[in-house]
Amino acid sequence: MTVTRTPVVVFISGSGSNLHALLEDSRKPDCPFRVCAVVADVAAPGLAHAEAHGIPHHVVRLADFPDREAWNRELARVATSYAPTYLVLAGFMRLLGAPVLEAFPDKIINTHPALLPSFPGPHGVRDALAYGVKVSGVSVIMVDAGVDTGRIIAQEAVTVADDDTVETLHERIKERERPLLVSVLRSLCEQGVPAAP
Ligand code: GAR
Repeated sequence: MTVTRTPVVVFISGSGSNLHALLEDSRKPDCPFRVCAVVADVAAPGLAHAEAHGIPHHVVRLADFPDREAWNRELARVATSYAPTYLVLAGFMRLLGAPVLEAFPDKIINTHPALLPSFPGPHGVRDALAYGVKVSGVSVIMVDAGVDTGRIIAQEAVTVADDDTVETLHERIKERERPLLVSVLRSLCEQGVPAAP
């Protein structure tokens, strides 16, 4: 059976373990998506995963543009050139603006290492730990113009241990995050965006 694979572009800023999970899944015969390009805002270590899989990759640095609007226009131009159905923010640590959001309406998903709407922003794990929560987790959301305010598609809880550090908790969250992100993307490609509640 031939599977028609939905093209996706993945945005990263860091080590790219979520990207790696997506790339490994995309090698399976039944996988409904293919990663057609990876875009980073810095020379992210995770770009090595794209390199290893022979996937085109780009670094589009904010500092190389006169303002965020121009940077967003370039991000949109690069992403659009691959004609993806979905953008996946897999540890992309900057807020996207109108040029990208308008190019992919309701087609951008983000993964976040906390149970939104609690602890949005770039330090979700640190902030949850500092607050003293006993349960945290991971959220996969649709991206809107706010900071982690988009519609929640899926979540999984992770118990916080008394001796957890930011690193140990984040690592346990990521163990749940990678399969969740893969599963959400598979569902989106197979069934489309779930209806709003
Ligand atoms: C992931 O845990 C992701 O949820 C987080 O960055 C990590 C990237 O890990 N994103 C955010 O905090 C966004 N607010 P990775 O580079 O190993 O995939």
